[in-house]
Amino acid sequence: MGNMDTELETARLLRPYERPLIRNAWYCAAWAEQITTEMTARRILNEPVVMYRTQAGQAVAMLDICPHKLAPMSQGKKVGDNLQCGYHGLEFDCSGKCVRNPQGDGTIPIQAKLRTYPLVERYGVLWIWMGDADRADAAKIPDLSHLNDPTWRTIRGGHHVKANYMLLVENLLDLGHALFLHKMSGGIADNVTLSETSIEQEGDSIHDLRLYRNVPGPGNFNGFKPAEICDNHSDIHWWAPSMLVADNGCSLPGKPRDREGGTILLGTHLVTPETQHTMHYFYAHTRNFGKADPEIDERFRVWQRTALHAEDSRVAEAIDTLLPETLKLGVRMVTLSTDTSGIRANRILDRLAAAES
Ligand code: FES
Ligand SMILES: [Fe+2]
Repeated sequence: MGNMDTELETARLLRPYERPLIRNAWYCAAWAEQITTEMTARRILNEPVVMYRTQAGQAVAMLDICPHKLAPMSQGKKVGDNLQCGYHGLEFDCSGKCVRNPQGDGTIPIQAKLRTYPLVERYGVLWIWMGDADRADAAKIPDLSHLNDPTWRTIRGGHHVKANYMLLVENLLDLGHALFLHKMSGGIADNVTLSETSIEQEGDSIHDLRLYRNVPGPGNFNGFKPAEICDNHSDIHWWAPSMLVADNGCSLPGKPRDREGGTILLGTHLVTPETQHTMHYFYAHTRNFGKADPEIDERFRVWQRTALHAEDSRVAEAIDTLLPETLKLGVRMVTLSTDTSGIRANRILDRLAAAES
């Protein structure tokens, strides 16, 4: 293959990270309790958004740009349930309508409005829709009811990552990386062999199932002690563009993976693009064992700080930094059989992006 072809091939493989962000989709804007009656400013899909709750507890999201001289609304203040711009004092209600002009004769221009975004509060998550408001269908939010199921225990967290969101989506769609990247932080040993694998695709979602049979339990991390032999599931369910639930439960060897005899460990990963090369990463770990044990809670907090932050996110950031150079250097990327889900996800997102362009 000549140089020209090599460059073309590399460009094709790098393209997912330059694909326009998908607008007609639900994204996690915040954990519900992060949004209070005070304003929170957060950039989502390249748009500055301001969020707050009304006195009655209703969460709202609006474009964080005053239509007068474009000052950020979040630099103004709250007046009851209204937002007052800090520059000349225009005041907007929670529907985005301008309700007061303290300047001149007080006339309110008809077009003085703040854009509002559909926002749904469900499963302890505030879901935002950045696309066409009339296409925002809350029924499209996947069932994540485990997140606030009182009979299980969930530890949540999140952090900011300086990388394109697909670098984490692809990371999660290939949980085989845990054997190496998370070896020190409690992943399963790297000398185990994948026993069974399958991929199911339904509409714009993918279910990648992997099973390690007869492996030592991954410590108390998911309920089986290292001395115990178990079957370890390492499944991931992805809904376009960037909602994922990893099912890492264990069951007794050869037993059906019903949830009676085994353990449940569901890792929820909600990845929200901030810009083309940065993201807000929200995650939660839900379990059915040691539910009242604060030591196990702490173990999951440590896991989130190490595996998700120090390991996964650092690799994603390093790769994002290398992307432009990689293109110039003509590096030829290769794919492995375990990359199939990532490739399929990229195809789905290509189709969704094309439909929006
Ligand atoms: S810029 Fe907001 S009132 Fe003037
Ligand atoms: Fe990971």
